[in-house]
Amino acid sequence: MPTTPKTLVRHSIPFLLLLFCATRSETRSYLRLHANGSETHSLKEKGDDLFALYRGTILANDSKRKKIAYTCGSGDLCGGVGDRLKGFASTFVLALLLDAEFVVEWTSPVPIDSFFKMPVMTNGEGLRKSAKNATTWSLIDAHSSSMELKKLRMSNFRELWRSNDFISIHLNGAVWNHFVMNEHLVDIGDKYSLNRFSKRQLFEVVMKYYFSTPMPALQNFVVREAAKFR
Ligand SMILES: *[C@@H]1O[C@H](CO)[C@@H](O)[C@H](O)[C@H]1NC(C)=O
Ligand SMILES: *[C@@H]1O[C@H](CO)[C@@H](O)[C@H](O)[C@H]1NC(C)=O
Ligand SMILES: *[C@@H]1O[C@H](CO)[C@@H](O)[C@H](O)[C@H]1NC(C)=O
Repeated sequence: MPTTPKTLVRHSIPFLLLLFCATRSETRSYLRLHANGSETHSLKEKGDDLFALYRGTILANDSKRKKIAYTCGSGDLCGGVGDRLKGFASTFVLALLLDAEFVVEWTSPVPIDSFFKMPVMTNGEGLRKSAKNATTWSLIDAHSSSMELKKLRMSNFRELWRSNDFISIHLNGAVWNHFVMNEHLVDIGDKYSLNRFSKRQLFEVVMKYYFSTPMPALQNFVVREAAKFR
């Protein structure tokens, strides 16, 4: 058979299809594991998309929705501010991936909402009291490469908390990327296109969303202190 360009193309179609499918799935898993956010959308746009979808989801159906709380009360091990912010972001991402409502029980040494106006209702403690079956889950000071971190990627949290309506999380690690890679939570990660965010970007958008609006007391304090350095 003579090899005309036409027959060459015809014979190549199955091969090209196969190549296309293979690279597509490879690209998807590559992105999931190595996303570094290099793309055209700005980080602000990506963050806005994520929170618009999240608000739409939780507001659509509030009463039956599971609540996942970042918890730091008096007597709890929470660490310093850096530990708390890392635990906060990790817990938010876990709530997102479980299609749960994220709430905040940060009350020590003072309630966090006396410093920042949180964009959604965050009174975790009040909600916990009205929960039917609240539970607690802790992972403090996990070391990288520990078994505990591996568990974050492998645990079936949906199954674990199937009969709980309120879960208080004590966590101080920058472990949100482990939750994003959890094999049981991949579907929701896709819904929120989490592979569009690098680890650092995901932290940044969560911090910006929750810690952008200081309450007057904090604002006045900052203005007063800043004036001393002029
Ligand atoms: C981001 O990932 C792309 C591949 O997806 C790579 O070419 C690029 O060098 C990476 N950039 C950084 C800063 O890691
Ligand atoms: C509301 O929540 C329930 C239980 O989680 C779920 O089965 C149902 O599909 C949700 N409805 C909407 C509109 O999201
Ligand atoms: C409450 O949750 C626990 C798991 O934390 C479960 O074993 C128990 O059956 C639940 N109780 C009810 C009444 O759902």
